[in-house]
Amino acid sequence: MIVKENHNIILIGFMGSGKTSVGELLAKRLSYQFKDTDQMIERKAGETINHIFQLKGEEYFRDMESSLLTELQSELHHAVLSTGGGLPLREQNARLLKKLGYVVYLKASKETTIKRLEGDTTRPLLRGEDLAHRVERMLNTRTPYYEKAAHKVVATDHKSIEDIVTIIMEAYMRNLS
Ligand code: S3P
Repeated sequence: MIVKENHNIILIGFMGSGKTSVGELLAKRLSYQFKDTDQMIERKAGETINHIFQLKGEEYFRDMESSLLTELQSELHHAVLSTGGGLPLREQNARLLKKLGYVVYLKASKETTIKRLEGDTTRPLLRGEDLAHRVERMLNTRTPYYEKAAHKVVATDHKSIEDIVTIIMEAYMRNLS
């Protein structure tokens, strides 16, 4: 069953899948507020995600994601929430996301993902050699988690941000009616 009361849309997907750009436009179209878990965590910690990983490690960051999500349960209404790529991998987080709103998985192919992430320096998990292999391995592991966590999957390759927003809005409205 899809929870309708909260009027929230949650975007999940791999790094570089367009969650932030799609989320910002979607929020504008719906006159919803836009929120991004990575931005909220950086603001809270007063550090970049790169620094949090360096100073405290990945588990610490994952715990921050989980507690942020718990906090959002009581305060997220009429919002589009863009989530960090690893957030839905914890089962408890995935369960909370579905309670929080309509969960949309933005799915991009390996090729598109690699192209978008080339040269990126902001994501600690992509540091080091051989981006293509790393992305391929992570996508293989993560895709089943994203699919299970979502109410709706949108394939984004060769679609504009406008097109993706329209698809999500139509699906969301159908779900509300
Ligand atoms: C991560 C994705 C990042 C950020 C962190 C870890 C991941 O967010 O949360 O670097 O594990 O996939 P984006 O998906 O917004 O890049």
